[in-house]
Amino acid sequence: MPRAHIELDKRAVIAPVHRRTFGSFVEHLGRCVYDGLYEPGHPSANKDGFRMDVVALVKELGSTTIRYPGGNFVSGFRWEDSVGPREKRPVRRDLAWHSLESNQVGLDEFARWLKLTDSELMLAVNVATRGILPALDLLEYANHPGGTALSDLRIANGSPEPHNVRMWCLGNEMDGSWQTGFMTADDYGKIAARTAAAMKMADKDLELVVCGSSGSAIPTFGDWERTVLEHSYDYVDYMSCHAYYQELDGDLGSFLASAIDMDYFIDTVVATADHVGYKKRSSKKINISFDEWNVWYLKEHQESQKTYDEWTYAPRQLEDVYTVADAVVVGNMLMTLLKHSDRVTSASLAQLVNVIAPIMTEPGGPAWRQTTFYPFSITSRLASGEVIRPVIQTAKYETAKYGPVSVVDSVATVDDDQVAVFLVNRDLDEPADVTVDLRSLGSSRITEAVTVSDADVRATNTITHQTRVTPWLNTSAALCDGVLSIRLPPVSWSAVALRSRGDDL
Ligand code: AHR
Repeated sequence: MPRAHIELDKRAVIAPVHRRTFGSFVEHLGRCVYDGLYEPGHPSANKDGFRMDVVALVKELGSTTIRYPGGNFVSGFRWEDSVGPREKRPVRRDLAWHSLESNQVGLDEFARWLKLTDSELMLAVNVATRGILPALDLLEYANHPGGTALSDLRIANGSPEPHNVRMWCLGNEMDGSWQTGFMTADDYGKIAARTAAAMKMADKDLELVVCGSSGSAIPTFGDWERTVLEHSYDYVDYMSCHAYYQELDGDLGSFLASAIDMDYFIDTVVATADHVGYKKRSSKKINISFDEWNVWYLKEHQESQKTYDEWTYAPRQLEDVYTVADAVVVGNMLMTLLKHSDRVTSASLAQLVNVIAPIMTEPGGPAWRQTTFYPFSITSRLASGEVIRPVIQTAKYETAKYGPVSVVDSVATVDDDQVAVFLVNRDLDEPADVTVDLRSLGSSRITEAVTVSDADVRATNTITHQTRVTPWLNTSAALCDGVLSIRLPPVSWSAVALRSRGDDL
């Protein structure tokens, strides 16, 4: 049986836990917005047409910042279409997802939905097929208090208070050939720099995200980041990273090690950003907004493209049903994001409802939690204070994709009251007995120990079996003389919370 020993030293602080790490993403895509979070005829809908059962699940998920309205969608979007009297809003074709957009939900409605869920808005502007002026207009509409044409229009449209959006994305995946208006790094870097500079003339405190690569496998990865930042370094604050993983060719071992690639991705982007910064003799650091990450059955989506030959509203697209193994990978990726909290200060699980999402809905019917909901919600609830870098002694296993990989991975957080330890066991067959030396953190008792695992790693939650997979109390967890011991089942994700004050015995 694999064993692992983990040392946690309170001096090994990586950085504070950033609440924005637990962001998510709502795109006008498939049934994410329409028939997802918005369904006026649903029994739980409020007066704006938002499903309150979905609101309750979003709050339980613990997502913080929400990126909106795309994604690929944003590159064909005219924001003006989606404000003002609903009956006057035009229907448009969305080329990105080959569907019809009714514009019945726009910025003002979405801002009201965000209030219901206590979330922060992260807004994307269309730099792909529009220009600097529409971006500035949107900024004026969204953030200016009043007394100008567009801020008064917002007030007239029923939003008297400015939306005060702090984080803005300068387009989306501009390196991708699938992106409407895709560009070379040189072209995009120049446009992003000019757009960012103009937006900061309006408000120097905006936090602007420039597009990085759409994935580490894209041939231009690395060069793209360098070139884009050479143009835009002085004007932007974040570079985006996007990464999706799936099990391919039945290689579960490699899939379970997906966090290794995410780790490499982050290190490479940080190194590239710092390289440009050093060349510019800049004291400024560019942080990372990992604003799309998840498991996505992309191969199946690409192979099914042929079915999108009609123009319909809110078609069922990208409605992946997640397994226990997927949940373990999602939990592990979140651990990797936390381990990089010194530079990854914002992240968005892509996406939130129905579309590669932790929350699923049925029109007129229920809303339920996918397997991936649990590691996200539990980590968001328990991680607080500072992230501690663990020293992990563990066996390795061989993967086709990444070579030898640690069987057990972990990260911990600590604040004045609580220590939280997050663990995965990637072994396909064997449980792992793990000890965690917490003496440096002064933990006094276990308050919670939960695991996501199942004898069937392909088990899922569906409309007919909504709670087939839920976290279970891991009663093997014990604390003795400041050392936690726990048994992790094969292919599992676990979290243990402990009181961190020594006097609380
Ligand atoms: O999240 C789904 C899509 O993935 C987004 O629209 C796009 O940015 C990415 O390719």
